[in-house]
Amino acid sequence: MAERAILTIGDRSYEFPVIEGSEGERAIDITELRARTGLITYDPGFGNTGSCISNITFIDGEKGILRYRGIPIEQFDRPTPNFIEAAWLIIFGRLPTKDDLAGFNVILTENAHLDESMKHNFEGFPVGAPPMAMLSAMINALSCFHPEYLKLSDEDTFEAAAARLFSKIRTIAAYSYRRSKGVPYIFPNPHLRYCANFLHMMFSMPYKDHVIDSDIEDALNLIFILHADHEQNCSAATVRVVGSGQANLFASVAAGVCALWGPRHGGANLAVIRMLEDVHRGNHSPEECIRMAKSQTSDFRLMGFGHRVYKNYDPRARILKAVCDRVLTRHHVNDPLLEIALRLEELALKDEYFVERKLYPNVDFYSGIIMRAIGIPTDMFPVMFAIGRVPGWIAQWREQQGDPQTRIARPRQIYAGPTVTSYIPIERRESAG
Ligand code: CMC
Repeated sequence: MAERAILTIGDRSYEFPVIEGSEGERAIDITELRARTGLITYDPGFGNTGSCISNITFIDGEKGILRYRGIPIEQFDRPTPNFIEAAWLIIFGRLPTKDDLAGFNVILTENAHLDESMKHNFEGFPVGAPPMAMLSAMINALSCFHPEYLKLSDEDTFEAAAARLFSKIRTIAAYSYRRSKGVPYIFPNPHLRYCANFLHMMFSMPYKDHVIDSDIEDALNLIFILHADHEQNCSAATVRVVGSGQANLFASVAAGVCALWGPRHGGANLAVIRMLEDVHRGNHSPEECIRMAKSQTSDFRLMGFGHRVYKNYDPRARILKAVCDRVLTRHHVNDPLLEIALRLEELALKDEYFVERKLYPNVDFYSGIIMRAIGIPTDMFPVMFAIGRVPGWIAQWREQQGDPQTRIARPRQIYAGPTVTSYIPIERRESAG
């Protein structure tokens, strides 16, 4: 017999179905809770709330497992698959055939450029503007340039829209950087692969092509793959919330970029580097950082540590730590920030505070050091996260749009404000002081 959960309130008991996922995760289905009991649940931060049933990504936070469409993340740590193949898998739910990939690559190549009038939009931003602000605004602006993709009524139109977004985000990201530096935009080169093309648009100059190093291209591929999806995180949940109101794909993903920006989420990679630089400048020792992170009176956190779901080493961080070592060694980069990061990790992993709370390095702890070695400027780090995460956002949006259970996202609240009170005309109000 199917398992049921029994809830007792006062002298009445209610039964609710227990549902189970393909990996044994169980949930109490409370869809009818309020209708039957008059009560709602209270779960700030949604730590106990399943908002959807999803087939995209599986995480076992206790064991440190991450799989895309069933494939363990460790299997992506090799020259193939590349980011495009991983993105296709995540978006469409199966590994692409050679024909699938060839067809997708053609759409990516033919749509890597931006509409010429979009360039004027970049001119409207001041030099020095944060690249994440430009990225989000320009992804949203795609809605103006592609009205034919505001409603995606069949698979071909969806693929066309998804491919355009996936291809153009690199161009928008590179242009955002170039605008922030006040240097000329570089057009995408149709002969270059996805990551190489991005590096070309970032670093070439009108008078000199950037020389692409294959190690760096591989490392970037892997960084993007490791960020490609992470189930119902803050930005994916945002994409779904916006999408639940039936906003178009571009608008929903632009909202995801904003959600990613903050230092508790995708902005953590930047915050980690700022923290390591602070230690390097001698403002704090690693030991002081650990002390401040533990202090009840300081709001300092050890950036790049801790995770809502992982209560074990983040498998992405494990891979990135090795990539970091590989890239720095091969390119003879002696980055003092790596030493500091290793020291902080060593101190934290044997400290009772971190052990008790199961706080381990997350994906953002080592990614910034690799990106520095590649030459990516620090304020672009969250943008790099966003490029990597686009396949996930697209897949989450698509899954939601096709799910008959989807309803507009509309949480409830426990109201704790004033009870009914009367309006007082302004001339009769006493001063607040
Ligand atoms: N440094 C010090 N203490 C921490 C940290 C940290 N990095 N992370 C969590 N804690 C403590 C926290 O103070 C709390 O302690 P107490 O029980 O005494 O109140 C306990 O651990 C639980 O923390 P929480 O804030 O309730 O956990 P959460 O699941 O709400 O937050 C998190 C998860 C990732 C926001 C948090 O760990 C954090 O702020 N980490 C630093 C920022 C960071 O690296 N973010 C990237 C996350 S991974 C990539 C991504 O999703 O973008």
